[in-house]
Amino acid sequence: MNEISPKLIRTSTLAQFKAEGRKFSCLTSYDVLTAGIFDEAGIEVLLVGDSAADNALGYETTLPITVDEIIPFGRAVVKGSHRSLVVVDMPFGSYEQGPELALENAIKIMKQTGASSVKLEGGERSIEQIKAITTAGIPVMAHIGFTPQSIHNLGGFKVQGRGEGEEQLIADALAVQEAGAYAVVLELVPQAIATKLTGMLSIPTIGIGAGSGTDGQILVWTDFAGLYPGKPRKFVKQYANLRQTLLSAATEYRNEVSTGSFPGPENSHD
Ligand code: KIV
Repeated sequence: MNEISPKLIRTSTLAQFKAEGRKFSCLTSYDVLTAGIFDEAGIEVLLVGDSAADNALGYETTLPITVDEIIPFGRAVVKGSHRSLVVVDMPFGSYEQGPELALENAIKIMKQTGASSVKLEGGERSIEQIKAITTAGIPVMAHIGFTPQSIHNLGGFKVQGRGEGEEQLIADALAVQEAGAYAVVLELVPQAIATKLTGMLSIPTIGIGAGSGTDGQILVWTDFAGLYPGKPRKFVKQYANLRQTLLSAATEYRNEVSTGSFPGPENSHD
């Protein structure tokens, strides 16, 4: 296992990791406590994903969350982390209309959260936005392959880049690199293509459902910690079963309150 870097992780640190062949890990986070825990564990990148929409706010998809809704999550994660690179997602509707709106919202997110970077979805279709934001000095993480904000257009959670889709995926990857992105998330992409792209690109690739050949990996924290009931999707590995742990704890607490054994003398003031 690599040593936890004592220094603040910057976008240049990820470039250095790629040059050294050192893999890095990323998790989503939406609050100060998980941010602190993941930072302490040495997770290099904390993404305040628009997945806060379904994981924290109870929306069905990532589409409804707004810039004003994601900002408090971003601020909390920045507050909880000391060395991880904090990246905030640009919500659906905050950048698609063009580079001016994209820059305005990226500036708002950076000013009001204190994060170090933004992330936005789309390859060739988003290059003018990436250029405008990076030209203003804001680092952009790109996101291609399966892009959850386009779920309705893509027909659900489907692996991208198979067959004829490979050519478009390669064009998207090269386009975001050329436009100035410092890293790119590859979501739901066949392992062989993700590995090929990782070799082709000079910027780090971060995989989710893209196999083991990428420079970094990212998971949604509620997936990796097992907060959801039922079988997780194929690409998710559950490193804990927090749902069961919390369910048992809440059941025990309720029992103890109803039988009068909590609070005990040790929990009560004289
Ligand atoms: O919002 C999110 O959680 C993401 C990851 C799936 C990469 O974009």
